[in-house]
Amino acid sequence: MTDTLHEKKILILDYGSQYTQNIARKIRECEVFCEIHPCTMPLDDVIRFNAKGIILSGGPASVLDEGSPLCDHRLFELKIPVLGICYGMQLMTYIMNGKIESAEHREYGRAELMISDFSHLFEGVRNKSTVWMSHGDKIAKLPAGFKTTAFTGNSPIAAIENPIARIYGLQFHPEVVHTAEGKTILENFLFKICGCLRNWKIGSLVTYSIDRIRETVGEGKVLCAMSGGVDSSVAAVLVHKAIGDKLTCIFIDNGVLRFGERDKVERTFRDNFHINLDVVDASKLFLERLDGITDPERKRKIIGNTFIEVFEEEANRLGEDFTFLAQGTLYPDVIESVSFKGGPSAVIKSHHNVGGLPEKMRLHLVEPLRELFKDEVRALGREMGIPEEIVGRQPFPGPGLAIRVLGEVTEERLEILRAADKIILEEMKAGGQYNKVWQSFAVLLPIKTVGVMGDARTYENVIGMRAVTSTDGMTADWAHLPYDLLGHISNRIINEVKGVNRVVYDISSKPPSTIEWE
Ligand code: XMP
Repeated sequence: MTDTLHEKKILILDYGSQYTQNIARKIRECEVFCEIHPCTMPLDDVIRFNAKGIILSGGPASVLDEGSPLCDHRLFELKIPVLGICYGMQLMTYIMNGKIESAEHREYGRAELMISDFSHLFEGVRNKSTVWMSHGDKIAKLPAGFKTTAFTGNSPIAAIENPIARIYGLQFHPEVVHTAEGKTILENFLFKICGCLRNWKIGSLVTYSIDRIRETVGEGKVLCAMSGGVDSSVAAVLVHKAIGDKLTCIFIDNGVLRFGERDKVERTFRDNFHINLDVVDASKLFLERLDGITDPERKRKIIGNTFIEVFEEEANRLGEDFTFLAQGTLYPDVIESVSFKGGPSAVIKSHHNVGGLPEKMRLHLVEPLRELFKDEVRALGREMGIPEEIVGRQPFPGPGLAIRVLGEVTEERLEILRAADKIILEEMKAGGQYNKVWQSFAVLLPIKTVGVMGDARTYENVIGMRAVTSTDGMTADWAHLPYDLLGHISNRIINEVKGVNRVVYDISSKPPSTIEWE
């Protein structure tokens, strides 16, 4: 590692909590560098890591169960401050000869934190602030040298510490948004207890990621399935910065792209970034295979399989010896970071768009964004000079417009949808709404309705407009857009897009609806 900013950092040992990445993210927000490592990291490596502080994450196990992940007791003798969160706190208690027992009632959800003794961890933290609990075990006896510093209605021991040894434990999760003063508590640990400095910026992540990519890839050649979306674009530019021409990106025109998409990708990545970009026009093949298909899941399967086939063929045609596949997998795409039954190895969910590729082509994965959240990826992209037009983009599904042309997908229907979608995009941007919503797009309905234009009766297509707010796409609400904007979009679509005489706005939330109509 070359960057001195990273020499003093926080080490997070992951015991499998679903919130571990939130800890890392909160620490990055404090402009401090951190790394997550599996809880099985050998003590020698921990020592070599030379951390300013160590955090033991939460986890699903119970220290009372056989085979649950533990840690070396010498970890607490390194004279490095340690913060144990939830399972991490129970673990430190257990290892240092305190006593853990199973609680009668699992405590899950909000609680009020009552601070009962002075702690550097709680400086500036209000009494009775809300904290988020999620645990089944509790501490029955503290280890020697420890005291209780806070409690809640259900947990007489909600925070413990040995201030001389600088070892701290929290039963609740300071890293989740529901813990009102979680950020202050983590800041106190970082700055008051570990003596960290605010010296880490998103730009440092660029240098750091480049180092790691170089380490992983060595002399290998890397392929990247570039979709033009935020994630694959940022991943590609990062890998390109790390290994230059040893990266080749393949962009497949599957015939169900939005207006001007292919040009934009070529312009940005080939002309501006000088990335080896191989553009394959496979639109005919995709559309032939979609011919007559109306079932949404069949459309998805056809597109997914054809994508893999075309990509593999193209990689073979290029004739180079690729050993890695770069993917823009983000943290929310990762199902579990650690699985204890089979050891703490990473289990990944393949990216929607390129699922199956790495196994089929025997490629190793390079996933430089695996630990990041979407807004961090956008910041990283901006830092590297990727235009706003790309980094600010809304998500777009892999099966593209095929699942927005409801029913049969034909060239003619795709043209209608593209034209309507382009208007929605332009007006959302002009009205300052594009970046306020999660997604906004057009769908073409498989029905016609009657209208009147001039003095004549028309019998034409209906465009559905969908705009939703969401934080992760898992749940969503319809966007309460200004009526004037909706009216303007509707007028433009009906006047400018031939074959459309009606526009409707989708006012359903997810659940029970989904974001896409198919
Ligand atoms: P739904 O429609 O399930 O969408 O509420 C949630 C999010 O996922 C996107 N989406 C997909 N993305 N392949 C993808 O790559 C797909 O088959 C697919 N289906 C939905 C959708 O655009 C939204 O952001």
